[in-house]
Amino acid sequence: MSPTLVPRSRILGTGAYAPAKVLTNADLEKIVDTSDEWIRDRTGIGERRVAAEDEAASDMALHAAQSALEAAGLQPTDLDMIIVGTISADMPLPACAAFLQQKLGCRAIPSFDVAAACAGFVYALSIGDQFIRSGMQKNVLVVGVELLSRVLNMEDRTTCVLFGDGAGAAVLGPANGDGRGVLSTRLYTDASLAESLCIPGGGSKEPLSAAGIEAKRDKVHMIGRDIFKVAVRNLTSASQNALSDADISADDVDWVVPHQANMRILSQVATRLQVPLDRFVLNIERYGNTSSASIPIALDEGVRDGRIQPNQTVLMCALGAGISWASALVRM
Ligand code: UT7
Repeated sequence: MSPTLVPRSRILGTGAYAPAKVLTNADLEKIVDTSDEWIRDRTGIGERRVAAEDEAASDMALHAAQSALEAAGLQPTDLDMIIVGTISADMPLPACAAFLQQKLGCRAIPSFDVAAACAGFVYALSIGDQFIRSGMQKNVLVVGVELLSRVLNMEDRTTCVLFGDGAGAAVLGPANGDGRGVLSTRLYTDASLAESLCIPGGGSKEPLSAAGIEAKRDKVHMIGRDIFKVAVRNLTSASQNALSDADISADDVDWVVPHQANMRILSQVATRLQVPLDRFVLNIERYGNTSSASIPIALDEGVRDGRIQPNQTVLMCALGAGISWASALVRM
């Protein structure tokens, strides 16, 4: 490990939540012109979860956060900061993190959202790490939560089959000098493809009108092919940069916990990184693309089922709208 990269924050506990309702590919065959075969071949997705009607993003985040706090052995009142990666907050204003803070019953602590789409959790992790490194905060809750079923056009087969709902969380605290913790993070945005994945209506540029709602301008629009090409290249290079920052080779990575958007993207990233896919924590088949929630859900699964062990090295990488992408290397 490079002497300048002694970890200063570490993951004290993880948690995740997936709503109970399952939407299978067979269910989608009844809604749009698609097939289980197409979805599985092109993406690796078999089913996804859908939030209940009375569930908001902060409700899902609450479950994941409570579970992460329990694993960390901390109470909500021990938290010094909450950072939520999301693009599907309860309301445009205030932040999802404010509602999460309210539901957890925290003290008055800084709580804010990060709008980095699928890279939101890694952005939040990196920001939390910086605050702990600087000594400004001690215990930081980082969350990735998405309720994308509310912003999908269920008549658009090119997007509605891809995404699912869920939440994941991690509690960060100061490292204790044993080498475990966040080793390096890298954050990027290249806005040249900003319009290739967006929700065009409902913001200040295009306030919602009846015509806008009719035209589904308040739903996700994506030119998947454009994103695919850059995803393989950028996920690979961001991962390589996080590794070289920490002076660690791909051989020394125990687990890759990637954003789960498409199995074909992940296969190509695995080949380029020269890390076999059996060292990737994958759950895309069961959850689809849960955007900012996909990494913390997979991380929590890997920790709880015993695959990810203390002291192992975990590489995270994610890419989504913006185009924003990010990587993080963590010794667990
Ligand atoms: O997490 C956020 C970042 N997002 C991503 O990383 C997504 C990156 N992109 C992708 O994962 C892939 O581009 C998709 C899975 C979205 C699409 O796969 P693709 O192999 O790039 O398909 P395509 O867009 O090139 O479409 C191929 C064909 C088209 O038909 P024609 O024009 O060849 O006749 C589509 O209309 O597949 C058709 N198609 C479908 N057919 C059945 C598109 N969606 C569907 C569908 N079912 N659901």
